[in-house]
Amino acid sequence: MSASTSDPGTLRIAIQSCDATYGCAPDDTLLGAGLRAGLGIPYECGVGACGTCKFELLDGEVAALRQDAPGLSARDRAKGRWLACQSRPLGDCVIKLRLDEAAKPVIAPRRRRANLLAAIPLTHDITEFRFRADDGADFLAGQYALLALPGVQGARAYSMSNLANGEGEWHFQVRLVPDGAATGALFTLSPGAAIGLDGPYGMAYLRPPDERDVVCIAGGSGLAPMISVARGFARQAPPGRSLRFFYGARAPRDVCGEALLRELPGYGERITYHASVSADQDGGWPGHRGFVHQLVDEVLGSGLADCEIYLAGPPPMIESVEALLREVHQVPPERLHYDRYF
Ligand code: FES
Repeated sequence: MSASTSDPGTLRIAIQSCDATYGCAPDDTLLGAGLRAGLGIPYECGVGACGTCKFELLDGEVAALRQDAPGLSARDRAKGRWLACQSRPLGDCVIKLRLDEAAKPVIAPRRRRANLLAAIPLTHDITEFRFRADDGADFLAGQYALLALPGVQGARAYSMSNLANGEGEWHFQVRLVPDGAATGALFTLSPGAAIGLDGPYGMAYLRPPDERDVVCIAGGSGLAPMISVARGFARQAPPGRSLRFFYGARAPRDVCGEALLRELPGYGERITYHASVSADQDGGWPGHRGFVHQLVDEVLGSGLADCEIYLAGPPPMIESVEALLREVHQVPPERLHYDRYF
């Protein structure tokens, strides 16, 4: 198996363990270039956090984009392991990693420039940023892109909230992180500002919603990919299939998403919205109080075992929901879809 390395300046990456070779531009990552070449390199977060893309460097030199990437332990470093999503080649390399057919990209990621069209506030701290690039926006519902923001070192992963389109529009719903460098840069961009956009990435995309009902569980800034999955469902699902959307918020003012779902055909019938609030300090929230996994259990219970389930949110939420689904309701792992960002 091989990919083109004919461009001048393109470096040659040989995967010794499976006899594959691909080209990598000096400013690209080993992961990005491998996926662009159509190879099934396993990954999740794309930003050095999860450790799924580890490889062994057998020959050649690479530079790490992020020295303190949490996806690598001290032991990994001592054993000569690197993260493909954080490594740029300094010359031809020979590496060892395991390719996986299931990780082959359905749509190979591309790097392009995009310009900010609009920033639309959704809540007190979540804003929808709409960018446009010159080529069509080709991605699957639930995937993410890596954004290179002006003045920010390293790319950041943000999920798209819209669907693929020929107009080149990529929409992201992002929560402002106090003192966060990336969201600080994003929230102060002016219309027309240019960024780097590399995508699509991510394995937690909508599978054909033909055979099972769909459940989306979102918390915090996990809103965007679940909205995209719901939009994809509204477009693709055959009659008779339903989607339940759960949103876990901290305070009543954080509750969001319902207005976006109301725009979809079938809202209130086959598409329903449920919200829970975990810290209702003044007692004014009329809905469910507690954590979102408790609400999911209350509404669906043992019915969860027959659903296709998509999750996006902060790690404690993912852990609680995963424990409920796997341990209490024995949902098979192949019906559970999420990318770990932390
Ligand atoms: Fe590379 Fe997560 S650490 S994909």
